[in-house]
Amino acid sequence: MDIVEHNRDAWNAEAEEGDSPWSQPASRTAIERARGGELSLILTPNKCVPDSWLGALKNKDVLGLASGGGQQVPLMAAAGARVTSFDNSDAQLELDRKVAEREQLEITFKRGDMADLSAFDDASFDMIFNPASTCFVADVRQVWLECIRVLRPGGRLMTGVMNPAYYLFGKDAHDGKAALVAKYSLPYADLTSLDDAELAALRKKRWPLEFSHTLEDLIGGQTDIGFQIVGFYEDKWSDEATPLNALMSTAMAICARKPG
Ligand SMILES: C[S@@+](CC[C@H](N)C(=O)[O-])C[C@H]1O[C@@H](n2cnc3c(N)ncnc32)[C@H](O)[C@@H]1O
Repeated sequence: MDIVEHNRDAWNAEAEEGDSPWSQPASRTAIERARGGELSLILTPNKCVPDSWLGALKNKDVLGLASGGGQQVPLMAAAGARVTSFDNSDAQLELDRKVAEREQLEITFKRGDMADLSAFDDASFDMIFNPASTCFVADVRQVWLECIRVLRPGGRLMTGVMNPAYYLFGKDAHDGKAALVAKYSLPYADLTSLDDAELAALRKKRWPLEFSHTLEDLIGGQTDIGFQIVGFYEDKWSDEATPLNALMSTAMAICARKPG
């Protein structure tokens, strides 16, 4: 099946339903604060990205990668960055577009798959901001390859990723409907780890399909191609994963620099 098309439809549904925390447009107050240099951005559900990672954004070329939804992209634009919002979901991009219109912000929009950034020339951006989303892509190393290509020397990739251990237990355990018992081997993928009936149920609900990846691909995949890891923190997941949150952090944020 075509994962990119399935996940496009799934995220369109999520954005149109309107209750996903990842699809809540930034408030006027948050935009005003960003204009004044007070920027609160997230790569993972709860912790804010440290100011030291972001630096001064004014006049920087920033790629919001899989960052649609009306949140981080308009905030970075309000802080003075020249932002391109690249996302696979038409509806997530539309949310960014609406906030841009409301706040008279100039943002460039492009729809597509983050594993293929051929729409952009080499060395086009000073920074890539990629909130937790590589779990929707089969080959995360391909995403890192594209990121290092489109970054300028000295540019930074900031990415939120899931701790692969999150995927040991299954979706019912995440929301407390089943015990936290290891059920799947890693790396997990909805496509290959679930049985036919479970997969059909996910597809019927129009939920996005996910991949856990290995730590070797998530972190080693960056260092293998020359990225230098210059920052790292862990975070809890949002409420839906409450039982697991009591036991471990389930998300991680990585800041990587392209040498030069
Ligand atoms: C958890 S949300 C992050 C966006 C959120 N609004 C934010 O600002 O943090 C994940 C995003 O990844 C996007 N996405 C999923 N698969 C993608 C792909 N293959 N290429 C580009 N974007 C993708 C979704 O459309 C969605 O907007």
